[in-house]
Amino acid sequence: MKIAAVILAAGQGTRMKSALPKVLQQLGGRPLVQYAAELAQAIGVAAPTFVVGHGMDAVQAAVGSAAQFVVQAEQLGTGHAALQAAALLRASAELVLIWYADMPLLRPETLHAVVAAQQANRGPLTILTATADDARGFGRVLRDPKRRVRAVVEEAHATRRQLAMRELNAGVYCARADWLWKELVRLPASPKGEYYLTDLVGVAVAQRRNVASVQLSATAELIGINTREHLAEAETALRLRINQHWMAAGVHLLDPASTYIEPGVQLAPDCVILPNTHLSGTTSVGAHSTIGPNSIVRDSVVGANCRIECSVIESAVVEEDVRIGPFAHLRPGAHLARGVHMGNFGEVKNSYLGPEVKMGHFSYIGDAQIGARTNIGAGTITCNFGMDQKKHRTVVGDDAYIGSDTLLVAPVTIGERGRTGAGSVVTHDVPADALAVGVPARVIKRTPPEAKPAGGS
Ligand code: UD1
Ligand code: CA
Repeated sequence: MKIAAVILAAGQGTRMKSALPKVLQQLGGRPLVQYAAELAQAIGVAAPTFVVGHGMDAVQAAVGSAAQFVVQAEQLGTGHAALQAAALLRASAELVLIWYADMPLLRPETLHAVVAAQQANRGPLTILTATADDARGFGRVLRDPKRRVRAVVEEAHATRRQLAMRELNAGVYCARADWLWKELVRLPASPKGEYYLTDLVGVAVAQRRNVASVQLSATAELIGINTREHLAEAETALRLRINQHWMAAGVHLLDPASTYIEPGVQLAPDCVILPNTHLSGTTSVGAHSTIGPNSIVRDSVVGANCRIECSVIESAVVEEDVRIGPFAHLRPGAHLARGVHMGNFGEVKNSYLGPEVKMGHFSYIGDAQIGARTNIGAGTITCNFGMDQKKHRTVVGDDAYIGSDTLLVAPVTIGERGRTGAGSVVTHDVPADALAVGVPARVIKRTPPEAKPAGGS
């Protein structure tokens, strides 16, 4: 049976008190509407239809090109919103699955269950319900003594007795397409002058046709976002869900409540994430690495057996066996090869540090290439930003020794095994095996300290 998906995302979300349309509010580092797009993909709907209105250009951009869009110019209610998809979908599907873009925690299994219930239903409509103590302002589901669904009453219009009901309308509907498009056009307006999608339930019942229901047991899925408080609640629930997933996959989380892992992150088994650590964007972490406490890793690749403590890593690559921190900062384009040690108060930007480079204390390395096994003394700085307002490169060869407090005034090159004395200001290239000292630095020796005489063993 051909199934179409319609996702309602046109509202402003006035209860959020935000300049941003509600469906663009961030949850787990991505806009709410993206969860709906991923959910559609997860249940196998190739081109879901999003009903957009407020901030539609930005909403469309956030959803991406895998979807279709119809515009609800004026927000006249959820029934009116769904109706906007009629022209596009009338001929193309037999079943229509509708949900709200402000329900980001719905799971694919749940939507599958609603579709399956409608496929087995002789009537035209199936709804998703849940029983919960906190009614969250949701519509109440009314049943008759035979437990058949009779209606959904919005909180604003419910009587006191109805308000006491604890079966709630979760806001997922699967309907027979021909019936849906016919009934949506003639839906009566509510006392508020809006057209409620929920009134379809009463319409079917009045036609003596069956409304099936699927009952949700996991209440986290029920968290809909109407207020900032709901958003924070969803953030906590999402975090718990993600953290449970990683623990089941073999990741050690010391304190899941203070571990913040965004949905796009990948973690290998046996890595350890310590409290107050934020892993975000496209970050991945290899096996047996320990991150945290108090660290932020964003859009970065961290290899196996690394140790990152109290540090901030952004758009960087860290190979295996690397030790970073405490209090280090990798900025975009930093690439630390295998076995690098970067100690406290170091910053690396747009630079490659070769295997086993040691950079222990208080250094800035920007726009540089540092050779294997080179030692960067405490307080070394690449002066990469020239008086010409341009960035210049520093190149240091393998096995070099940069003395404490060296200023490398770029563009500049230090050859293999080249050395600089403490406090030198290097304005000219230093050849291989040479030692340069002073301000500005002059080459005073051309052989390495332990140079063996020719022919020696
Ligand atoms: C709605 C349901 C309520 C249910 C709850 C569950 C109705 C009338 N009520 O209430 O029974 O318990 O969801 O989450 O459907 N939207 C549009 N165009 C509009 C109005 C809304 O696209 O004209 C979109 C919004 O962007 C939002 C979604 O529909 O994503 C739901 O609207 P909202 O105003 O949040 O409905 P609720 O009051 O939560
Ligand atoms: Ca809502």
